[in-house]
Parts: sequence; C-alpha cells; structure tokens
Amino acid sequence: MNSFLLKNTNGVSVEILNYGGIISSIKTPDCNGNFQDIVLGFDTPESYFGNHPYFGALIGRFANRIANGSFTIDGKSYSTIQNNGSNHLHGGTIGFDKVLWDAEPFENENESGVILRYLSKDMEEGYPGNLTVRVTYTLTHDNILKVAYQAATDKKTIVNLTQHSYFNLSGDFSSKILDHELQLYADEYLPLNENQIPRGTYQSVANSPFDFRTPKTIGRDIEENHEQLKIGKGYDHCWVLKNNGVLSKIAEVYHPKSGRVLEVLTTEPGVQLYTANFLDNSIPSKTGGTYSPQSGFCLETQHYPDSPNQPHFPTTILEPGEDFMSETWFKFGTKNS
Ligand code: GLA
Repeated sequence: MNSFLLKNTNGVSVEILNYGGIISSIKTPDCNGNFQDIVLGFDTPESYFGNHPYFGALIGRFANRIANGSFTIDGKSYSTIQNNGSNHLHGGTIGFDKVLWDAEPFENENESGVILRYLSKDMEEGYPGNLTVRVTYTLTHDNILKVAYQAATDKKTIVNLTQHSYFNLSGDFSSKILDHELQLYADEYLPLNENQIPRGTYQSVANSPFDFRTPKTIGRDIEENHEQLKIGKGYDHCWVLKNNGVLSKIAEVYHPKSGRVLEVLTTEPGVQLYTANFLDNSIPSKTGGTYSPQSGFCLETQHYPDSPNQPHFPTTILEPGEDFMSETWFKFGTKNS
C-alpha cells in the first residue's frame, strides 16, 4: 500500500491511501491557527486492512443499500450479496473500499492531487460489465478538496459512488458532533422502511427533526421521539438536493468551539447524513479512547439508495459509451462566532 500526502500553501494537508482510496487524515487549522486532524480513522495505514465502518473510503460500485441485494436491468435479474440484513450495502464483500487502486500523483502551481484508477471486472460482486473507474482527489491552495469521479462500462450496469469520510471538526474524537451546527439545503428527505430502504416517497422536512434549512446543531432534535430517527438510530437518511446536476453548495457545518467550517458542494441529487450511529466503542480512536456513536458525521453525496428498484428515482444506470461523471468538493475554513 502507498500513501500520498497533499499539502497546500496554507499548511492544510490530506493523506490518501491507494487501498480503498481512503482519506486517512485531513489536517486543518482552527480559528487560532492550531492544526488538527478532523477525520476519524486509524494512526497506521495497515490498520485499514482490518474490519472498520468504511472510514474515509471510496464506496462502489453501489453506495448505500439495494433491497434484497437484487435488481433487474432490461429484464435480466442480478443478485448481489446481502451483507446488511437482507440488503446489499456499499458494494458488497470486497467493495471499492477494500481494493488497491493504481495511483498517480500530480502537482501544479494551483493544486496537488492523486488520480486513482480501478478496473472492476464483469460480474465482480455480482455487477455486470467491466467498469473502469477513475477518482481524482485534488487539494487546492484555497483549501478545497475536490473529489471527481468518472466511470465507463462495456455492458449496461448500475453505478453509485461516494466518499465515506467521518468528520469531527473539533479534532477531539472523544467529543460528540452534537454541538456542530449544520445547514442542509434540502426541502425533502427519503423516509425509510424498517429495513432502512427508502419507502419511495418524498417527505417534506418541515416541522420535523430533518429540517436543517436554517442552521441548527446536529444534536438539537436527534433524540426526538420520531419514527424515522428510531429506524436510523439517529440520522442515517438521504436528503433530496435541488442542484439539477450542477455543482452547488448543499451543506455547511460549523463547529463554534474551534471555529472550523466545512462546506460541501456536489453535482449529486442526494446526500446521506449519517451520525455514526453504529460505532460501538470497539475501535480505538486516533486521539485516545474509542469511537462512540455520534463521534463523527458523514455527508455522503450520492444517488438515492435502492434506485435500481425504484424507477421514479434519478437513474443509476450506466450504458456503454456513456461517461459517468460526478463531483463533490469539501471546503475547509474558519469563522469566529
Ligand atoms: C452508511 C449507511 C449506514 C452505515 C454506514 C457504515 O452511512 O447509511 O447505515 O451502514 O454507511 O457503517
């Protein structure tokens, strides 16, 4: 395994592993100029070979869940492994988070980065088509980490790619992210059935714990007595974005104590907010202690879960000759309260 350290002129750094395309650290300053790592994970690259909840990883071929692990393309049925109850989750047993990618670092006067390439063979993890995937991580001198995804196939298939970093802007992983203020530019989210599969309806966020249209702390409503929060054991839902496929700002997170700000921009139609509900104190943290529920949050930009079985959702079909393109930016800053 190789690791690549991207560092910009402000001292912001991002470490990337070619195993799983994992982001193993992101160091940014707080409002007093103190640099800290703001993503959950491990101290040593080798630790990522063990079992872990997708810390920092690239997810594919299909991010999130597919009901019963089965889908149909042009009348032909495919079945993939059920690795999450009856669901297929995050690409299967050896998803893109557990493969070695070819890596090519680059640098120019405005930015530095790594191009990762992987060929997922026809029927790998049950998905049809030889899929060539390229993910480019770029760190700019204005503190933006760009993640650009590209893919092509030789047979009609499905694709849904995301980045699974867990952020904790405090830099102290023994503190929960409940005090982070989140704004999500979304009027609707996708309610789940008891198996965490979208019911297929679009639900307004109004008057519910899911309303982040004006900033509020992640913790404010998370313990509310709401059926959907019980199903997710907290937030583990996909919000419906209004960007029409154009790279747009969809979220801002502010941590008042450190002054750190994270902005997220994407071309994707959805974002899964996951509040690390399934972390169970079994994994030692980089900053001492163990990773507990709510010790991080993920903003996984993606198409909607179970799209292959819900034709009214934006399509995740990729045809031969088409170019799959998707882009997400994470912008790091600070502000004083
Ligand atoms: C996603 C899912 C969660 C969980 C995590 C990984 O966020 O939506 O339910 O599976 O990945 O643990």
